[in-house]
Amino acid sequence: MLEQLQQQPPDKILDLMQTFKEDTRANKLDLGIGVYKNENGQTPIINAVKKAEKILWEQETTKSYTKLTGDSDFQTVMKELIFSDCVSEDTISTAHTPGGTGAIRQAFELIRLASPNSKIWISNPTWPNHISILKFLNIPYSEYIYFDKKTCELNFDGMMESLKDTKPGDIILLHGCCHNPTGANLNNEQWKELQKFLCNNQLVPLIDLAYQGFGDGLDEDAYGVRLLAKKCKEVILAASCSKNFGIYRERTGILFTISENEKIKNISSSTLAFLNRQNFSFPPDHGGKLVTLILKNEELKSSWIKELNEMRLNMLDIRKSLAEELRKESRSNRFDFLETHRGMFSLLGATKDQVLNMREKHAIYMIEDSRVNIAGLNKKTLSKLARAIIDVGI
Ligand code: LMR
Repeated sequence: MLEQLQQQPPDKILDLMQTFKEDTRANKLDLGIGVYKNENGQTPIINAVKKAEKILWEQETTKSYTKLTGDSDFQTVMKELIFSDCVSEDTISTAHTPGGTGAIRQAFELIRLASPNSKIWISNPTWPNHISILKFLNIPYSEYIYFDKKTCELNFDGMMESLKDTKPGDIILLHGCCHNPTGANLNNEQWKELQKFLCNNQLVPLIDLAYQGFGDGLDEDAYGVRLLAKKCKEVILAASCSKNFGIYRERTGILFTISENEKIKNISSSTLAFLNRQNFSFPPDHGGKLVTLILKNEELKSSWIKELNEMRLNMLDIRKSLAEELRKESRSNRFDFLETHRGMFSLLGATKDQVLNMREKHAIYMIEDSRVNIAGLNKKTLSKLARAIIDVGI
């Protein structure tokens, strides 16, 4: 039987991780997978997380099962962190999932159950795993214009124009903040215009929120999410704690639905529980417990926010310095977009050949589409990157 299996296509991000590991050059630089690194190239455990682990170790008395949709306290603190007071208890349903990817997967399955003929619209480009899971689940999807490769900025007019091809009931997959892979984001006015368009055309937003706190701040990054949550009849949101709590391997994610009324909310809640049971049964609890302990304890919470802000400001600093270096190296300001982009990533708009050249000649690894992990750079390595960018002719 197993001989009938076919080789699966490699995941571009994970594949690059492996190629980088196998490179024996001492000066190699990994700007591939999205993990935050400090100036020593390490991904440290956030202090508040370490402290929460100690508290958990001391206080936890059982490893018995929680609820199918996870621990209620985790749901409450995450609801507050993401939506603040923008949603009513009567309409929101929640399920703890294994990572943000788990939440996305459950969201797609929920959509397929509710409305198998609805199309999901994804930005071009988007996180490759969105496409991979949609294909795997055989869910119809289309792309909307998002990025202008020449200016490396958001093409909002193009986005709105291509969304005119949607039909009522279609789902629009949006990145809540810090767009992956481009780094280009909607401003508040554009969110308002988009919200009106979605409501007027009966479209359902599905928001992927993986980087809250990595752009302009915890509340600032939730602007679009909260606006849609307040105004739209229905919203689906998948969030990840991997990046902002630095608990990547703990696989901590959460899925929310906002329904039109309490009756629909109850059905949605039971569907979320059903989907968890079908796919993995109970969600892993450890990461969610850490997040709950941090967000419920004033001291741990302010320590976490402080460290999160340090990471965010460090990324902004790197963006500024990299743009400055490139202004010098290129004698132009064509890389100034790096300063306006937000989050871990920026898409450089380079060709595949230029990206491969960068890998072979300079041992600098970025994703084939020219996505750079800004959080993988530091003061020492950013000059090397700036010189290499000019050298390969980007
Ligand atoms: C990334 O885009 O690099 C991260 O979200 C990690 C992943 O799972 O792809």
